[in-house]
Amino acid sequence: MIRILYFSRSTNALYDDQLEDILESSRRNNSALGITGILVHANGMFMQVLEGPEQPTLRTYVKILDDQRHSDCQIAYIAHTDKRIFEGWSMGAIARNDPLDFEKIIALQKQHRKAVVEPKIFIQTIREWLTILKDKHG
Ligand SMILES: Cc1cc2nc3c(=O)[nH]c(=O)nc-3n(C[C@H](O)[C@H](O)[C@H](O)COP(=O)(O)O)c2cc1C
Repeated sequence: MIRILYFSRSTNALYDDQLEDILESSRRNNSALGITGILVHANGMFMQVLEGPEQPTLRTYVKILDDQRHSDCQIAYIAHTDKRIFEGWSMGAIARNDPLDFEKIIALQKQHRKAVVEPKIFIQTIREWLTILKDKHG
């Protein structure tokens, strides 16, 4: 399996129903392909983790690259893995009004501009997301 984390900019003010459309097609396609992950939308930015079998996951990423609803996709982290972080989530979501520490996300992005995301911060941020998701969805 492979895990990808990327950032992008949402092209317009993205409305809740547009986000819902993205999540609806993501969940439908990803569950058919064995892809799991999370999508964060905040401050005009997306951050997404995709994890799953290498070829379908890379193909999905390439398809997402073409989507006009965002631009400037930048991979911040890519690695092989044999364990999922987002087991059971065909696409979890965190929107801007969730109680997430967005400072961390911005720090991640700034770090990425210099080099690559430090694995420790990546893992720590993801653990926090998981806690929030579990609180929300049980
Ligand atoms: C930020 C962002 C994340 C997306 N994530 C996924 C995803 O995880 N899986 C997916 O199939 N489509 C995702 N999409 C949507 C695709 O770009 C595309 O619109 C969709 O897969 C088309 O699905 P359909 O051919 O079933 O209509 C995403 C789009 C955006 C803008």
